[in-house]
Amino acid sequence: MMSQLKQLPLFVTKASFRERNVKSVTFKGNFDYPIHRWFRLTPSFSPELVADILAHWKLPHDAEVLEPFCGVGTTPLVCQERGLSNCAVELNPLLYFVAKVKTTPFRNPTDLAVAAEEVMAQAQIHFSTLKSLDTDTFLIEYHDWIPRIRNVTKWWSPLVLKKLIAVRMALTDASIPVDIANLLNLAAASILIEVSNARHNHPSLSFTKVPKNDAPVFERFQEQLEMTMHDLHSFPQERPKTLILQGNSKQLEQVLPANSVFDAVITSPPYPNRYSYARETRPHMFFLELVQDGREVGELETEAIGGTWGKATSVLSGHFDYRSPAVEEALHGIPERIGQHSHLMQNYVIKYFNDIQQHIESLKPFLRRRAQLAYVIGNSKFYKIVLPSDEILADIFEANGFRVISIERMRRRNSKSGLYEAIVFAEVQ
Ligand SMILES: C[S@@+](CC[C@H](N)C(=O)[O-])C[C@H]1O[C@@H](n2cnc3c(N)ncnc32)[C@H](O)[C@@H]1O
Repeated sequence: MMSQLKQLPLFVTKASFRERNVKSVTFKGNFDYPIHRWFRLTPSFSPELVADILAHWKLPHDAEVLEPFCGVGTTPLVCQERGLSNCAVELNPLLYFVAKVKTTPFRNPTDLAVAAEEVMAQAQIHFSTLKSLDTDTFLIEYHDWIPRIRNVTKWWSPLVLKKLIAVRMALTDASIPVDIANLLNLAAASILIEVSNARHNHPSLSFTKVPKNDAPVFERFQEQLEMTMHDLHSFPQERPKTLILQGNSKQLEQVLPANSVFDAVITSPPYPNRYSYARETRPHMFFLELVQDGREVGELETEAIGGTWGKATSVLSGHFDYRSPAVEEALHGIPERIGQHSHLMQNYVIKYFNDIQQHIESLKPFLRRRAQLAYVIGNSKFYKIVLPSDEILADIFEANGFRVISIERMRRRNSKSGLYEAIVFAEVQ
């Protein structure tokens, strides 16, 4: 006889955005998931967080999701896993490249395996020539191959640099289709920091005290390629429509296709903590020749939200007006209090929220009525003065005609500092 008892699910999950652990919020969550783990970006958020937001909203299957600060593509990739069409915008050429490659379906991992073997063999041949050269001869004769980053041998020892150049030469010479070349280039770019004399240090790059004379470049490149092939097998082959665009999310009208309309936005803009994406990605950008010189990196930083590296700092001297009364009101005089310690930092905070306001102005025309928004943001402190970025962002949303649904403080960033990360949930009225 059939049992009358109803079958219950083994686990009942409930999306909660409070008291989340580190892996369910931060980049650390990326390492557990195929493709997400291909490139480390410390300020990225976790796939689990995006999946929970989508589950919380229960969007219709034909919903279109926008990610205006795409980073390494966490939101688009989760949308692909969940079968949702999506579009993402990213300013930084390296992060744009990473997101684009991760979200482009690749159907034949065997072709990748053949190309990888060929490139590895060629790299070994190039290295056998390079390794016998003394450092000065190498730096002069191979000048055109060497990343144009300042103090290149401070980043990589001459021996490691020779191995990297051997890989670069093999990649450039190989006559392989562009989709395969992209996967190989991404694998090479993803190991650049671990074989360098720099390390990720809360969260910016800094140089280690004891430089590495050598590092397992070929071995790590090979492992990274094996992981790439493995992950391609385990990711859904059929992916919904995905558009990754390079551009500035302060001027979305110049980036998005004219008739775009979105039902949801899941994103994390840069936090107001001076972190510089241009600075952190310049080893990779120079290695892949995505930028030509330091001037280009400086320009990138000036266009970006939130960074203050190089030229972008000098932009902050002088006088800064508030972009609108909404921004001034939301900031409650905090910049002026910070200004008692530093005029530059006063301007930094004003500029940061002016930029956010400009982004929201440019976003609004592309949103459907009742569109749902989730903005992940962290607060900061300047001279012990707390900048509650989540509340300020919520006030700016309200002043622009959005309805703020809730602010969920997800996680304290370390126990005593008072720093946390939050999601601001809002809706188009
Ligand atoms: C917090 S990160 C986003 C990380 C992303 N959620 C992920 O998981 O990888 C913020 C991103 O905004 C980008 N960005 C900064 N200013 C921008 C702008 N004006 N337009 C578009 N993207 C910008 C940065 O390059 C960075 O990738």
